[in-house]
Amino acid sequence: MLLVTGGAGFIGSNFVLDWCAASDEPIVNLDKLTYAGNLGNLATLKGNSRHVFVRGDIGDRTQVEALLAQYTPRAVINFAAESHVDRSIHAPADFIATNVVGTLNLLDAIRGYWNALGESERLRFRFLHVSTDEVYGSLEPIEPAFTESSPYAPNSPYAASKAAADHLVRAYRHTYGLPTLVTNCSNNYGPRQFPEKLIPLMIHNALAGKALPIYGDGLNIRDWLYVGDHCAAIRAVLECGRPGETYNIGGWNEKANLDIVHTVCTLLDELRPDAGGPHARLITHVQDRPGHDRRYAIDARKLERELGWRPAETFETGIRKTVQWYLDNPGWVQRVQSGAYRDWVARNYADRAEA
Ligand code: NAD
Ligand code: TYD
Repeated sequence: MLLVTGGAGFIGSNFVLDWCAASDEPIVNLDKLTYAGNLGNLATLKGNSRHVFVRGDIGDRTQVEALLAQYTPRAVINFAAESHVDRSIHAPADFIATNVVGTLNLLDAIRGYWNALGESERLRFRFLHVSTDEVYGSLEPIEPAFTESSPYAPNSPYAASKAAADHLVRAYRHTYGLPTLVTNCSNNYGPRQFPEKLIPLMIHNALAGKALPIYGDGLNIRDWLYVGDHCAAIRAVLECGRPGETYNIGGWNEKANLDIVHTVCTLLDELRPDAGGPHARLITHVQDRPGHDRRYAIDARKLERELGWRPAETFETGIRKTVQWYLDNPGWVQRVQSGAYRDWVARNYADRAEA
């Protein structure tokens, strides 16, 4: 059995759905259901006895210990996190509570559980911590992509909280011998991403005829990976990764934000033409994000060399699937737009004058 945390969010729910489609191994899913967690993401698993959903906090020691004792998982995968950079700029405390203190709590509960396992279960057990390329900081245009030995230089409160968690995982390996794995992945896109992140926000706003807010000059670069490819990489690392190792995961797909938004607009022009004109007319440059990292890029050669993983989707195939998914699921977007979501949009964009 697997225990996953944060499996009602974007990447976690894609992972759980893919897992349940391909494997008979049961999965317990611990999720706090913050604004970003949505049980609707897991609706197709209703009645599936191989998926057990538990609402709870990775920071709740009693609950985590009880789950480990009840389900005796062979592995734990930690997706749970506060994940949005802009929110971390407005209110960093939740990021420290979940990403740092929550991960520490999880590690320590797992250490107790792992120590008490029999010899063969101890050897087989894995704790896989899902992290981000943002821990490495920002690259200059000509610098080589981040490798697993790039120095940590987190710039946002979100990145700093993820870096702190990665260091704790490393320390639990080094000090206590816990069989840990860390993955540092680039920006994901795909179905079920909360519409606060660039791609789903742009699809949503374009369909609503609203402005498409580009921070600064729009030339910041991210390395985009389709979420299904991220999930495949996590499965490969879980089964064949070497304990104590870090694996960088990326799409070999560096693109500037403006190019991403133009691609989304062109696809929408084809799939859902707007009588008012091309969707790109809605692009609006707004005030930049404070401390905005200029460029991320991942060197994913270690993962390919050791585990044979490469992304299956190109950006062209992945972004088309993604736009189509949002067009086919307008009800999903409506359901996640609670009052809290609307408050956030008002707060984040109100003070961003057009630039
Ligand atoms: P998300 O914000 O969509 O989902 C996070 C999930 O964690 C939600 O379901 C939420 O309810 C849950 N959660 C939050 N706090 C919790 C707590 N204290 N206890 C239990 N559950 C809690 O995030 P995502 O985009 O799916 O990211 C998942 C993981 O992948 C995160 O660790 C993130 O740092 C990492 N990551 C994300 C990206 C990306 O582009 N989205 C890229 C690389 C790495
Ligand atoms: P985001 O999806 O928030 O991911 P991250 O900050 O973790 O990379 O943002 C991706 C890029 O898009 C980032 O450079 C910020 C930019 N961006 C905008 O230009 N406008 C927006 O409204 C948002 C949400 C992001």
